[in-house]
Amino acid sequence: MAIVVIRQDNKLDAWKKALIAKASNTAIYSYLEDHPKEEITMACIWKQPSETLNLYPNLKCIASFGAGVDFIFKDHSVPKHIPITRVVDPVLASDMSEFVLALILGFFKNLTTYKTDQLQKIWSPQEYKRISDVTVGIMGMGALGEKLAEDLIKNRFRVVGWAKSKKIIPGVEVYAGNSQKNTFLSLSNILVCLLPLTKETTGILNSKLFRELPKQSYVINVARGGHLVDEDLLEYVNNGHLAGAGLDVFHEEPLPVEHPFWNHPKIQITPHVASVSDIDSVIPQLLENYRRLEEGLPLMNEVSREKEY
Ligand code: GLV
Repeated sequence: MAIVVIRQDNKLDAWKKALIAKASNTAIYSYLEDHPKEEITMACIWKQPSETLNLYPNLKCIASFGAGVDFIFKDHSVPKHIPITRVVDPVLASDMSEFVLALILGFFKNLTTYKTDQLQKIWSPQEYKRISDVTVGIMGMGALGEKLAEDLIKNRFRVVGWAKSKKIIPGVEVYAGNSQKNTFLSLSNILVCLLPLTKETTGILNSKLFRELPKQSYVINVARGGHLVDEDLLEYVNNGHLAGAGLDVFHEEPLPVEHPFWNHPKIQITPHVASVSDIDSVIPQLLENYRRLEEGLPLMNEVSREKEY
């Protein structure tokens, strides 16, 4: 039994070293070094190159380094029978919640406008919003959505949620399924997308949805670029129906330099930093799943192949 670490960014060595530091008796390899393919039982991965996961004949678990697993389902070379796990981590959830709170408050208090004004030495007070003025609508009431709702409520926001099926979450009116989507949208002055990216949710942030939001709402996408139809957002921000948007994720990352989001005064972009897997917090759950694999026990945080999350 052994673990292979697969990721194409500059964090490959750091994750491998951190795994070794916490599991010195386990054979742990980087996919870039020579390693015995038949010994590998667990692959810890983030955006693997295609035709990589099919090289391991005894693979028993594919573990995402993050909360998302969409990049695994997109790769048709990934064997279909191997269980997939994802990260469910309180640090990931609180980081996300802090980021969304910062975006909402920055938007309310016109902070990006003032920064732009400052660079041009413009003194121009604006009207501002208060927490009591708005309702925040969260699309996707999984671990991240629930934590965000909890923190928003603590900060006196009214919160509504939308989930695939009915959920009971203290203090949140949760609407479920397509039949209740428009009611949910009609209440959401700030719409936060925290949905998993699946066949069903691809392109869900589109004109049809924006039309249902109250006038002057603000859209936050911290899930995946694939949820958003970029042209539709531009249309609804430019025609004044939406007051603006905060986007942390894009179809192509880094966002291409010619993309209109870069220079749009009402669209705040950030480089996919809302919530980044914390090595110290995530390693123990990866190793716990490896131990379960060794002992033939059920895995934690296994993803449903049917639901894609
Ligand atoms: C980050 O985008 C993640 O899925 O953890």
